[in-house]
Amino acid sequence: MKSEHIQETFGNIDIYLFDQLIKGTYDGCKSVLDAGCGTGRNLLYFLKSGAQVYGVDQNPEAIAQLKNLASAFPHINPEENFRIGPIEQLPFENESFDLVVSSAVLHFAENQEHFEAMLSAMWRVLKPGGYFFCRLASEIGIESLVRFIGNGRYILPDGSERFLVNQEMLVRFTNKLGGKLHEPIKTTNVQNMRAMTTWCVRK
Ligand SMILES: C[S@@+](CC[C@H](N)C(=O)[O-])C[C@H]1O[C@@H](n2cnc3c(N)ncnc32)[C@H](O)[C@@H]1O
Repeated sequence: MKSEHIQETFGNIDIYLFDQLIKGTYDGCKSVLDAGCGTGRNLLYFLKSGAQVYGVDQNPEAIAQLKNLASAFPHINPEENFRIGPIEQLPFENESFDLVVSSAVLHFAENQEHFEAMLSAMWRVLKPGGYFFCRLASEIGIESLVRFIGNGRYILPDGSERFLVNQEMLVRFTNKLGGKLHEPIKTTNVQNMRAMTTWCVRK
């Protein structure tokens, strides 16, 4: 198989989201929300698969690009499905989605309260039995390389400032939400730069 064919089908999808697709975890998911979707690199496959796909992002240019991408799919109403706004105030009914994706977003939380507000908004719109896929920066395995500066935020080895979680926090949040880990928490250490953790929870 040529790499162009994989690109055509999946776009520049997050590799750990791809992992769940290969495992078939989301086979039954007909409604998908990407919270903090950016330009929608993680949504191409779901658009192609015929799912009802929704996205929210605070960046108007990103949403405009995503609307343009999605306009090629007749089953999607881009104006309805792609919204500009904050994740902490998602404009959707409770228990609307089979899958909520949060890819490289939660580490932009300003503090613990902001983190929890975004998390509980995403959990609120997830159906019982639905899946929460989250990829976020953490301090797992790089504890000695990061510097805590307060409010849950750290300076990373690459000089960037992020809200970081650790394993204990993710297990605690999973329990607090009443969810279940359906995969062990997995972390990729990006050489001398950051650690990116994948947190997969079922409601
Ligand atoms: C690093 S990008 C990731 C985009 C996409 N999820 C991906 O994996 O390619 C982070 C995105 O989160 C959005 N974002 C961060 N905090 C947000 C918030 N509180 N509400 C809405 N969007 C937010 C940013 O505008 C940006 O598009």
